[in-house]
Amino acid sequence: MKRTKIVDALKSVDFNHDILVKGWVRSHRNSKAVDFIALNDGSTINNIQIVVDPTSMDAEALKSITTGACIGVTGTLVQSQGAGQSVEIQSKAIEIYGLCPSDYPMQKKGQSFEYMRKYAHLRLRTNTFGAVFRIRHNMAIAIHQYFHEHGYYYFHTPLITASDAEGAGEMFQVTTLDLSRTGKTGEVPYEKDFFGKKTSLTVSGQLEGELGATALGGIYTFGPTFRAENSNTPRHLAEFWMIEPEVAFLDKDELMDLEEDFIKFCVRWALEHCKDDLEFLNKMIDKNLLETLQSVIKEDFVRLTYTEGIEILQAAVKNGKKFEFPVTEWGMDLSSEHERYLVEEHFKRPVIMTDYPSEIKAFYMKRNADGKTMQGTDVLFPRIGEIIGGSVREESYEKLVAEIKARGMAPESYSWYLDTRKYGSCPHAGFGLGFERLILFVTGMQNIRDVIPFPRTPKSAEF
Ligand code: 4AD
Ligand code: MG
Repeated sequence: MKRTKIVDALKSVDFNHDILVKGWVRSHRNSKAVDFIALNDGSTINNIQIVVDPTSMDAEALKSITTGACIGVTGTLVQSQGAGQSVEIQSKAIEIYGLCPSDYPMQKKGQSFEYMRKYAHLRLRTNTFGAVFRIRHNMAIAIHQYFHEHGYYYFHTPLITASDAEGAGEMFQVTTLDLSRTGKTGEVPYEKDFFGKKTSLTVSGQLEGELGATALGGIYTFGPTFRAENSNTPRHLAEFWMIEPEVAFLDKDELMDLEEDFIKFCVRWALEHCKDDLEFLNKMIDKNLLETLQSVIKEDFVRLTYTEGIEILQAAVKNGKKFEFPVTEWGMDLSSEHERYLVEEHFKRPVIMTDYPSEIKAFYMKRNADGKTMQGTDVLFPRIGEIIGGSVREESYEKLVAEIKARGMAPESYSWYLDTRKYGSCPHAGFGLGFERLILFVTGMQNIRDVIPFPRTPKSAEF
């Protein structure tokens, strides 16, 4: 018999016919007359109830089917008399694929997420992680859908690169050199390395994305991104996924419109396509989750300059607000508690912050006429802080070269990038959305390590 997925079985009204379901046992309880097995196959957060007449099979075999075991059940789909489910299966035959010994680390309910992180290979089988990763999949689909519908091309940028896209030097080196045999003289013979020069894993596909945008009009990237920053926070990963649209002929206001429309589309998509999983997370993880998601798609985002933001923060401090990181003066970089104060307490809505001091932003941003600020457009979100980092790009060849030099970077390593400004330069803009930060927001999870299957963070690269 062909296997029916549990998600389909639960929706079926084709009663009193036999079906075959396969999955992992979530629980097994027995009374004198009957056994109940809750079975889940990952196709939905919901389990299907298997009702077993204990006289119908070997008693020892039935007893051996404990939480975590993998079985296949052939039986009759019937309307359920019990509360909590509409259909159930009256078992006729159970095939055991894999028993699950009692030291199964996911056996107990209510384990901490920290505990489960040690078992990232098994935590996938729990309700919460099932929900998170089904939602993660749906958000990836939403992103491709949005850009495809709006005429952007999915553009693949390299993961191995010889240039630092953010100019921040937080890169993981890629080499085939035998490191134990180099460095004695302090010199690394990069000419002998695989690529003949020093290479690293990319921190952003933006620079290559700009090449795509200034040819195809509008592109987006969606791929892994690597940062060797030693940030042990609930919002940083050393390997994360980023979505980077890059668009020709877009100005600052249009860029902000795109950021807002895109992120609202994604949240709306989650509400429409991930109902069961979101309801589960709303019950188990964050009681305000659905309300927060709904309010984000309803409200206009606040648009605020950095300078206005600093003034609000300074006024808050005057009125007694205490921050862990001090609010000093114009020019300081904001930390996530400052961003969250603006979003969660002051405006109670997402904020797009613009026009940052050049010192705290990347070299490629377009300078304003004031000479002090750059046309950055970061989106700040409740619970998350910065979810999107974006900007209008400097399109003047001379200004861009001057900026690269002023920052002590080498224009030679960006020659191909600078060619976009040399030959038919065009005004353009783009942004980067941190995929895991979006998933954090949409799922209500607290720690970024819990929204990527196998997190990479400082001192941790298991699995
Ligand atoms: O603000 P960032 O550094 O901007 C860029 O990389 C630009 N090149 C994007 C662009 O304009 N095309 O990173 C963009 C976003 C951040 O807003 C954040 O959501 C996420 O990427 N991000 C991280 N997510 C997880 N772990 C990290 N270490 C992250 N660093 C950035
Ligand atoms: Mg940023």
